Amino acid sequence: MRTSLVVANWKMHGRKSEVTQLLSAIKIGIKAGVAAAEKVVICPPSIFLGQVEQELAGSKIAIGAQNAHPQIKGAFTGEVAFAMLKEFSCSYVIIGHSERRELFAESDKFVTEKFLAAQEQNLIPILCVGETQTQRESGLSKAVVLEQLQAVISEAGIESFSNAVIAYEPIWAIGTGLTATPEQAQEVHATLRSFLAELNREIADNITMLYGGSVKANNAKALFDQVDIDGALVGGASLDAEEFLTICAAA
Ligand code: 13P
Repeated sequence: MRTSLVVANWKMHGRKSEVTQLLSAIKIGIKAGVAAAEKVVICPPSIFLGQVEQELAGSKIAIGAQNAHPQIKGAFTGEVAFAMLKEFSCSYVIIGHSERRELFAESDKFVTEKFLAAQEQNLIPILCVGETQTQRESGLSKAVVLEQLQAVISEAGIESFSNAVIAYEPIWAIGTGLTATPEQAQEVHATLRSFLAELNREIADNITMLYGGSVKANNAKALFDQVDIDGALVGGASLDAEEFLTICAAA
């Protein structure tokens, strides 16, 4: 089922006290019925998952993680397993974010391993795809995102997308204040959905697709008005409760 979904990606931000302040403001807003979004997910840095789990207990806000390692356990110093995320009530996990792909050299193959490992633990992967500025200028946007998507489909199979979310995040729009126009975002979303439809129409019709890249209170509505955009993956603006709640309200 396509769901209107707003996901906060806090990235590497926050301190214990800030987590408490931010969550309490978001909880108040959600409880007051501010959000039109059917589902709101908070993805804090992993070290805060226990705190977030406690502070969100009893609220309808879901918890997600930003990353994990595909192995179940082992000698992987500094890593966290998907099974561990489950213990902190996570239901979603971001996979293949461009910051992971670019800064930590994550390949399509590794992204796919993570996608599969997440699903094995009954976590819903939020698979991120997106092109660079140069790729866009060379007219390669669609080819790039389809290649990233195809890499996962080849290994995981199209059926696995019946329980996954896709996030289109053009790299040039992340943290830059440059947002894709609603038309630019819609064009790529439509391309992704029709590519899936060629393989399985039901999955294509039902998959939730998010846009990410400088989504703010003042541009969210126009993005959400697009037929193939179901919600947002929000970075910077998710660190400001009022801004984030306005985005949730627009979904
Ligand atoms: P910004 O909203 O800060 O551009 O970040 C987008 C993003 O990368 C969310 O995953």
